[in-house]
Amino acid sequence: MVGRKSTVEGLAVTPNFWDGKRIFVTGHTGFKGSWLCLWLQRLGAEVAGYALDPPTSVNLFDGARVGAGMKSLRGDVRDAERLERSLREREPEIVMHLAAQSLVRRSYEAPLETYETNVLGTTAVLDALRRTQGVRAAVIVTSDKCYDLRSQKERYTEEDALGGYDPYSSSKAAAEFVTAGYRASFWMGRNGVAVATARSGNVIGGGDWSVDRLLPDLISAFSKGRPALVREPDAIRPWQHVLDPLRGYLMLAERLYGAPSGGYDAAWNFGPPAANERPVREIADAAARMWGSDASWKPDATEHPHEARVLRLDSAKAAAKLDWRGRIPLDAALERTLSWHKKFSDGADARALAIADIDELAMHAVGS
Ligand SMILES: NC(=O)c1ccc[n+]([C@@H]2O[C@H](COP(=O)([O-])OP(=O)(O)OC[C@H]3O[C@@H](n4cnc5c(N)ncnc54)[C@H](O)[C@@H]3O)[C@@H](O)[C@H]2O)c1
Repeated sequence: MVGRKSTVEGLAVTPNFWDGKRIFVTGHTGFKGSWLCLWLQRLGAEVAGYALDPPTSVNLFDGARVGAGMKSLRGDVRDAERLERSLREREPEIVMHLAAQSLVRRSYEAPLETYETNVLGTTAVLDALRRTQGVRAAVIVTSDKCYDLRSQKERYTEEDALGGYDPYSSSKAAAEFVTAGYRASFWMGRNGVAVATARSGNVIGGGDWSVDRLLPDLISAFSKGRPALVREPDAIRPWQHVLDPLRGYLMLAERLYGAPSGGYDAAWNFGPPAANERPVREIADAAARMWGSDASWKPDATEHPHEARVLRLDSAKAAAKLDWRGRIPLDAALERTLSWHKKFSDGADARALAIADIDELAMHAVGS
């Protein structure tokens, strides 16, 4: 287990809260799950994870030896019986559900798998919660893509209509509906488990090798000395360093746990600062500049499936009620991500790199 560090007040997680807490994380072998579990370990939590194998052959979970500091279970969220048994055995106080088929492009190739994992898998998690004593709080991670973008709003608040054009996006909207249905039917006002959903933007950070995500695609091309192919260069996305929304999930879990009737069992947006909402081409330009050594990109002229052109979240509710704000500026997030991968390819230890980022970007106040 990694050692612990103290932190500053406000806009941060509370280390004493997490110390010794039993946490069950689904999707712990994925990009965000690995970061979350390392952070929870750093906070002294007793962490158990339930997921399939890491989604890519090179991955943060293995590279940073995340499994060494926790109970790591291999299992499918579609296997409701096994999931429930694993949950009961671990007797968690808090559940963080991140397991998903997480890629928009893949959802066009495998829509059934996407709906089964993201909708039925989430239903299986909620159903296991319904029949397990002792869990006080759960955070169900969906996506900023769950909104119905036909209204073309400047910004989407938690009250806006859900929708989602492609199988991934609509599966995340469906996971929102299922969660709301379970909450109203079984828990709300009945002293049951306090369950919230969390919607965040496009996350970046070291240790992501997923295909069809901008930064991993750029880094892969740059490191091979080829021009990167970029889809939708004019699309505007809410970019954020992975540790910013993860901090939001942790702060939300603290409130759900501490004040189960406090109204925190709802949907929450965790978007980046407005300055981080930039077109894809600017991110590609900045990344190429920061990488140096002739790194370049060009638009991908091949046909590709529909993707939303503009997507902005309104995170005022999280600021007002959780005192959470995205606080890692885009330049810092990009610079960290690129230097993480450069150092990693130069032989640096992934665990040491990740822990340094957690300590510097998340445990301490950054430009807040
Ligand atoms: N990465 C982003 O930009 C982003 C943005 C918004 C929301 N999200 C959401 O955050 C969560 C984590 O995303 P990520 O980027 O870490 O994804 P990832 O693809 O890196 O990891 C997905 C995780 O889910 C697990 N998984 C997949 N199918 C499973 C199944 N049937 N049973 C059990 N486990 C299964 C994988 O093994 C892995 O641990 C997902 O719910 C995703 O939709 C991600």
